Amino acid sequence: MMQDTLTVLGIETSCDETAAAVVRLSPAGTEVLSDRIASQTEDHALYGGVVPEIAARAHVERLDGLIRLAMADAGIGWEGLSGVAATAGPGLIGGVMAGLSTAKAIALARGLPLLAVNHLEGHALSPRLAEDVAFPYLLLLVSGGHCQFVFVEGVGKYQRLGSTIDDAAGEAFDKTAKLLGLAGAGGPAVEREALEGDADAVELPRPLLDRPGLDMSFSGLKTAVRRAAEEEKLTERRRADICASFQAAVADILSHKSSRAMELVTHLTNQRTFVVAGGVAANKALRARLEAEARRAGFRFVAPPMRWCTDNAAMIALAGAERLRLGLSDPLDTPARARWPLDEASATSAPVYGKGKKGAKA
Ligand code: KG4
Ligand code: ZN
Repeated sequence: MMQDTLTVLGIETSCDETAAAVVRLSPAGTEVLSDRIASQTEDHALYGGVVPEIAARAHVERLDGLIRLAMADAGIGWEGLSGVAATAGPGLIGGVMAGLSTAKAIALARGLPLLAVNHLEGHALSPRLAEDVAFPYLLLLVSGGHCQFVFVEGVGKYQRLGSTIDDAAGEAFDKTAKLLGLAGAGGPAVEREALEGDADAVELPRPLLDRPGLDMSFSGLKTAVRRAAEEEKLTERRRADICASFQAAVADILSHKSSRAMELVTHLTNQRTFVVAGGVAANKALRARLEAEARRAGFRFVAPPMRWCTDNAAMIALAGAERLRLGLSDPLDTPARARWPLDEASATSAPVYGKGKKGAKA
């Protein structure tokens, strides 16, 4: 089935953002017709982390209204849709169920194909929302639940090249923010503080840098940050220094491993494109470091616009539309999955264990 124009509603509910968007693929290119997000940051602020039950309930309460808004923004009715996509995992299971069931209900009521999208595939394809990025490309996916290098050969064709063996980079940002008592979303708060600090002030480890391969580790870094925070009085100055030093350590680890990944990928393809996606890719200092690394290696560097780095529904609608264009769709009894590796083959042959807000980081 090869259709000229495909218009897909996407729904994202895997963590603490409720989102709905409409994306259109046509010979003219990719258009985001609407893109709505309702953040739950306030709902969880009291608890110092995302509470799954609160998240699931908030998704259920907000979804209908948000979908209505996304459809109105796009200026289309149900008959204007070619399919409905929703994140089917990995993520907090209650939230994933809320979004996926809503998509199933729409699909059933309107006789539309359902696209059960892997959230990681959404991130992996997100650069294609704003730019023409041809396959294959090297992807560094860095988010709150995941940190991995993936060789993206095409829609549905993902080969994991390496990944964190413990915490995700975003999780380390969030824990650092919490340890230092910073208010608001972890990553942006640390980035803001880091601007005022000295990156050489606090000595922090760069785990696994001396080891070959593309695996990464961030939990030792988190422990070192805790020690640094307890060692001296936490003045504003000290807090900024810890943030700057922490951010520099993460950037060192990711840029060092990225340069190695680019080297590896030159053996797999002649096409030299390096993409960074996921929430942590919104970090300006990190983007600059990775961009410099790509330039050095002779790679084109691509990072999605900030709003499509962090969780959003446009990337889910896009992944759905790309799959629909290939003639793919999913049955209405497709289950929601708390865990769902992007590359099932490598995940089974070389499993990486870990627990976190989104389950196994591989
Ligand atoms: O992709 P995302 O929205 O959700 C997941 O799929 O996990 O990523 C969220 C993560 C959080 O850990 C957040 O702290 C981090 O991305 N993040 C950042 C920044 N903005 C968001 N980390 C560093 N710097 C930022 N500016
Ligand atoms: Zn995400």
